[in-house]
Amino acid sequence: MKKILTGDRPTGKLHLGHYVGSLVSRVALQHQYDTMILVADVQALTTHFARPELIYDSIYEVTMDNLSVGLDPEKVTFVQQSQVPSIAELTLFYSMFVTCNQLSHNPTIKTEAKNYGYTEMTYGFLGYPVSQTADITFCNADLVPVGEDQLPHIELSRKIVRKFNEQYGTSITEPEAKVSTVGRLCGLDGNSKMGKSLGNAIYLSDPADVINQKVRNAVTDTNRISVKIPGNPDVCTVYTYQKTFNPDEAPNICSMCKNAQIGCVACKKLLAEKLNSILEPMREKRSYYEQHRDLVRQFIVDGTARANAIGKENLDQIKQKMHVAL
Ligand code: TRP
Repeated sequence: MKKILTGDRPTGKLHLGHYVGSLVSRVALQHQYDTMILVADVQALTTHFARPELIYDSIYEVTMDNLSVGLDPEKVTFVQQSQVPSIAELTLFYSMFVTCNQLSHNPTIKTEAKNYGYTEMTYGFLGYPVSQTADITFCNADLVPVGEDQLPHIELSRKIVRKFNEQYGTSITEPEAKVSTVGRLCGLDGNSKMGKSLGNAIYLSDPADVINQKVRNAVTDTNRISVKIPGNPDVCTVYTYQKTFNPDEAPNICSMCKNAQIGCVACKKLLAEKLNSILEPMREKRSYYEQHRDLVRQFIVDGTARANAIGKENLDQIKQKMHVAL
């Protein structure tokens, strides 16, 4: 069976952007692939090293988010990154095969550094794509379902693996990215991305009234100052959500908006209802796991043990090829 490895940074709960970008494809692919879900707590440290309690709590939150959207704990393996030493070892070996320039020109690194307001980058932050390469390859994953923003990282991973294999005659799998077919989600505030740090996130675990509130505050076509004048769905963020989450009704909503037959308040109400109907079963599942945290912990502990067995075997082989094993 081919392998999937994908992961999340435990710096808070997961939101609709994660759902559209990656969770949807994980759920769909879990039956065809041996799926590993990495809870990337070391990667979380690269930006949140001063908030260890948040990371600790988020290891549970992120795992529960994955479970609540329909990842089956019988099928998938949850892995806690910091508890897999072979990932750390591999990161170090890979670091010889990437230049500082490659990392500092990575567009995602640049955008994130800007969003976090970094004037200088730590070695750990700058190097997280190297560590992410180790995340993906310690188990020889074939496929990596990720959001579009992660593509530069996977491209770099492929380069590192190619060079490494060439140098040492190893046969580490060159991973392939799988970008969601649902598309990417902008923020309801009009920002091109939804993000925790951008303050515009709609969390999978948000209760119904919070969803209603967030949708009510969304930006629409700013030129539409009255319900009586026609709207322009092409410039409306709410409409992009209608297309993503309410594809059946979207064409109708579009023409009603253009003909001033529906106002923004009513359109938002339809969207909020739709979102709640998608999220309600997830909230229900989540509440079960919230009451059974020991179970969630056990999934992570057992999955991490499995990952360690696989990682150790692969690392032993790699070390032989590198001639570091005596
Ligand atoms: N960088 C990813 C994100 O921010 C999280 C991540 C860590 C990841 N390790 C990974 C994704 C390995 C895919 C594969 O969402």
